[in-house]
Amino acid sequence: MAQLLTIEDLRLQAKRRVPRMFYDYADSGAWTESTYRANEADFANIKLRQRVAVDMTNRTLASTMIGEQVSMPVALAPTGIAGMQHADGEILAARAAARAGVPFTLSTMSVCSIEDVAENTDKPFWFQLYVMRDRVFIERLIDRAKAAGCSALMLTLDLQILGQRHKDIRNGLSAPPKPTIANLINLALKPRWCMGMLGTKRRSFGNIVGHATGVGDMTSLSAWTAEQFDPTLSWDDVKWIKDRWGGKLILKGILDAEDAELAAQSGADALIVSNHGGRQLDGAVSSIAALPGIVEQVGGRMEVWMDGGVRSGQDVLKAVALGARGVLIGRPFLYGLGALGEDGVKLALDIIRKEMDITMALCGKRDIQDVDASILVKGKA
Ligand code: GLV
Repeated sequence: MAQLLTIEDLRLQAKRRVPRMFYDYADSGAWTESTYRANEADFANIKLRQRVAVDMTNRTLASTMIGEQVSMPVALAPTGIAGMQHADGEILAARAAARAGVPFTLSTMSVCSIEDVAENTDKPFWFQLYVMRDRVFIERLIDRAKAAGCSALMLTLDLQILGQRHKDIRNGLSAPPKPTIANLINLALKPRWCMGMLGTKRRSFGNIVGHATGVGDMTSLSAWTAEQFDPTLSWDDVKWIKDRWGGKLILKGILDAEDAELAAQSGADALIVSNHGGRQLDGAVSSIAALPGIVEQVGGRMEVWMDGGVRSGQDVLKAVALGARGVLIGRPFLYGLGALGEDGVKLALDIIRKEMDITMALCGKRDIQDVDASILVKGKA
């Protein structure tokens, strides 16, 4: 196997090992994918200032996110059906995150259930919530997250309806895959993946199957979302969820300063500047372009984090320089998971950590807490 030194190396390895419908599910954006591309391209346009003859010993990336100690300001983003990138994917990713000293977020649309992840890991994780029409089910989900010891609830606000990802339709995305000729041919080319799946019982939506009433065929994510997700979600619901949960609340999917203001007024602990990895509103600005305005609006009142387009430690550093207290990575860890399971997720985090550490030093800083816009070339942000 070629040496795996970058997130791009992991992506290529994952592409070889993961069945096409699940690789494509992770690695695609909505419609023309212009926002998906902008997320990465806008990072590349920000230039770092090289500083020299500065003492670079004793460096630290340690920080906190909503009061929790993190070994670097990075967390694993909630991602749907991570357990289809690799058997038992969510459990493996949570373990890798714990080994790396960063938080893991379990998606509502995960394969391994809340209880299953809690039983098979040692560290509390965060739970991401989608709001569905069936409020009794939502109440129970919140209570299940509490009972499992989740230390924060992350409420996603930008997916009341699903943005169209063409590849998912063309591939007939479902979990588990339907036994069509095309799928069987593709699966025959992915023996490791198939072996893993044969060795686990975790093959569908663990948080939902057997818990939500009136759910029949929920193998199709898009059909299920259209049927079950609540298009009426409002700020009143945010308040209701905050009260019901009673713990740390993170709001994900804010891209506009006016919405950020409402998020601050809601009393949430943190917000995540995000366009859902370019998977929802195609044509929206990149997350990194939206970040400075949102930090200016609410940064003094709540923690502002971001996700979208992060492919390296340099990207994390740029986001921190522009005011992000934390950065979430989705695809980079999914590529690691698809490539090598738990060790691949750990490797993705190690790659990002090393890049961040060396880059911080070359910018003349030794402590992530001292990283600010002074490490960026002005006028390029
Ligand atoms: C769900 O979160 C998705 O982006 O597919």
